[in-house]
Amino acid sequence: MSKVLVTGASGHIGRLTLEKLLDRRPASELLGLVRDPAKARELAARGIELRQGDYLDKASLLRAFEGVDRLMLTSTHAFTDRKTAHANAIDAAAEAGIGHIVYMPIIRKEGSDFSMRQVTEEDIFSEQRIVSSGLTYTFVKHPPFLDTMTPFLGVAMLEKGVRVPAGDGKTGPATRADLAEAHAAVLTGSGHENKSYVLTGSPAVSFSDIAAILSQMTGETVPYVAVSDQDYVDARIAEGLPEFVARFLLGWVQGMNRGEWDQQTGDLEALLGRAPTTTEQYLRQALSAMRRSRHALAP
Ligand SMILES: NC(=O)c1ccc[n+]([C@@H]2O[C@H](COP(=O)([O-])OP(=O)(O)OC[C@H]3O[C@@H](n4cnc5c(N)ncnc54)[C@H](OP(=O)(O)O)[C@@H]3O)[C@@H](O)[C@H]2O)c1
Repeated sequence: MSKVLVTGASGHIGRLTLEKLLDRRPASELLGLVRDPAKARELAARGIELRQGDYLDKASLLRAFEGVDRLMLTSTHAFTDRKTAHANAIDAAAEAGIGHIVYMPIIRKEGSDFSMRQVTEEDIFSEQRIVSSGLTYTFVKHPPFLDTMTPFLGVAMLEKGVRVPAGDGKTGPATRADLAEAHAAVLTGSGHENKSYVLTGSPAVSFSDIAAILSQMTGETVPYVAVSDQDYVDARIAEGLPEFVARFLLGWVQGMNRGEWDQQTGDLEALLGRAPTTTEQYLRQALSAMRRSRHALAP
């Protein structure tokens, strides 16, 4: 019996990865690392053992990793000490004798000089630490999540249009659920040792393609409007985001406009054994959920 532990089990992608693992393995073989077990009660209710640990407390990780064969390291939040957190987890995995670590850096295009604050440097650091640790690894490289596309587009995208800085680059975003299913395939499969997968969704779309999809879905013209970087940041601040988060989102939009995540590798489809959710399918679901909740809120 091989034990698989997923860190960040109280968060979106860690929880989804464990749910997808339940389709492939009995709960008795699955574990989740959490800081606060109360935040993952529903996983415990399904028979998954929760172990308490904090990336910033290496001794807690060493205890949590005892008896674990395969480990999914969920990246920690930006704007925290990600290097120390990931170094502790990687070092503890090596000391605990874990057989295989799976880690999720953001995709970096070969030869590109594009860099994102709080992301690129920390990802490179973590990948290097894993490779030099001697652990068997798989890098499941992530594109932007489709689930977080709405904050990039702005809450009033349907009324005011897709208002982003100019650029015609394309991006292959993917849903967290599809990425989690790919994680589960790697964590339970074979032949993934010391490999990297570039998990872009398909087809890749530009922001003007997104405006066209929204227009087609709503039957109303949703214009694509190029705005300045500062106007983009100001609009996000007006929606209630702190300036540093607004600038962080701008960095992602700039990457998308440069086509940093436009590669169509087929890796995600191969791991899923089916086509991943498209941007159009995702936006259709998101729009109908938005309409249902507006309807529910209507007096
Ligand atoms: N590709 C993209 O577009 C994209 C978008 C957003 C984020 N990301 C990256 O992907 C990661 C996962 O995404 P997500 O949506 O699942 O994020 P999330 O819901 O915020 O989950 C992050 C998880 O990390 C855990 N964590 C944070 N600090 C920790 C610590 N010191 N020790 C142990 N656990 C800690 C959190 O635990 P608590 O519940 O205790 O806080 C939570 O379970 C993010 O952290 C971020 O690095 C990527």
